[in-house]
Amino acid sequence: MIEQKTEIIFNREIARDTFLMGLRSPEIVARAKPGQFVMLRVRPGIDPLLRRPFSICAVQDDELLLILYRVVGKGTAIMAEASGGDSFSVLGPLGNGFALPDRHQQSILVAGGIGVAPLLFLAQYTRTGPIQLMMGFGSAAEIIALELILDRTMDFVIATDDGSAGHAGPVTDLLEARLNQDEFERDAASIFTCGPGPMMKKVAAMALERGIPCQASLEAVMACGIGACQGCSVKTSSKEGQTYFHVCTDGPVFPVMAIDWNH
Ligand SMILES: Cc1cc2nc3c(=O)[nH]c(=O)nc-3n(C[C@H](O)[C@H](O)[C@H](O)COP(=O)(O)OP(=O)(O)OC[C@H]3O[C@@H](n4cnc5c(N)ncnc54)[C@H](O)[C@@H]3O)c2cc1C
Ligand code: FES
Repeated sequence: MIEQKTEIIFNREIARDTFLMGLRSPEIVARAKPGQFVMLRVRPGIDPLLRRPFSICAVQDDELLLILYRVVGKGTAIMAEASGGDSFSVLGPLGNGFALPDRHQQSILVAGGIGVAPLLFLAQYTRTGPIQLMMGFGSAAEIIALELILDRTMDFVIATDDGSAGHAGPVTDLLEARLNQDEFERDAASIFTCGPGPMMKKVAAMALERGIPCQASLEAVMACGIGACQGCSVKTSSKEGQTYFHVCTDGPVFPVMAIDWNH
């Protein structure tokens, strides 16, 4: 884990309230794995006091760390105002990351909104096996153009809640349709998901019902990011032994069967 001051190389709005930031950090880039995250201190001093967690969305040229973020509150509003040449203190890479898919497995990546961030790094990193990306957004204005982030093309489908682009309805409809296709080979597939809790709960249920391996990258409000504050616990599915995980150090990625989705 590295803590360093990193220079912002660019910071641009690429969809409604959604920004892509490039931070120069060859040291973190060299260690980064898909599913890991960094904690950003968006301003020196005490306001806001806490670092904010962001998934590593992609890396570029062995030195740029890409963060894809939505403006939702004070910290992310400060980030949106930052320009090239400014700098942030970054702590990372943190967390466990995804267990990578087997060579011949088909990976189905199911993203809800900004939850696409860690899945794009997984897609960038995984050069073997076919990948299908399913992305759900509120509306067309929130859709993220993949070519702005990735140096590879991939098969993708889109759903929007208001029907302004792609399938009208939740992204889980797309997953269900795929899993129900006659030619779908469940023994050769893995599902990876990140997004709002209710969406991941539904994805987890579909995967568990069909016995398809599935990993979910969970979100939790994080004060420290390093296992020291107990603030990010989630309930495990275990009836004995460890009953809570720290999302920051045990995760943020978990096999869906390890989590109590009803808690
Ligand atoms: C492992 C991990 C990876 C993440 N990756 C990304 C990412 O790639 N891109 C991205 O845009 N966001 C990501 N998030 C969420 C991001 O950390 C929060 O959106 C951010 O901290 C909000 O900061 P703020 O100061 O703008 O909001 P605040 O002013 O602190 O809060 C504004 C609103 O956001 C909610 N919120 C605050 N923190 C979180 C959180 N951790 N999770 C969910 N809701 C929160 C608050 O409850 C409140 O409703 C990630 C969170 C985790 C735990
Ligand atoms: S964020 Fe402090 S223990 Fe996880």
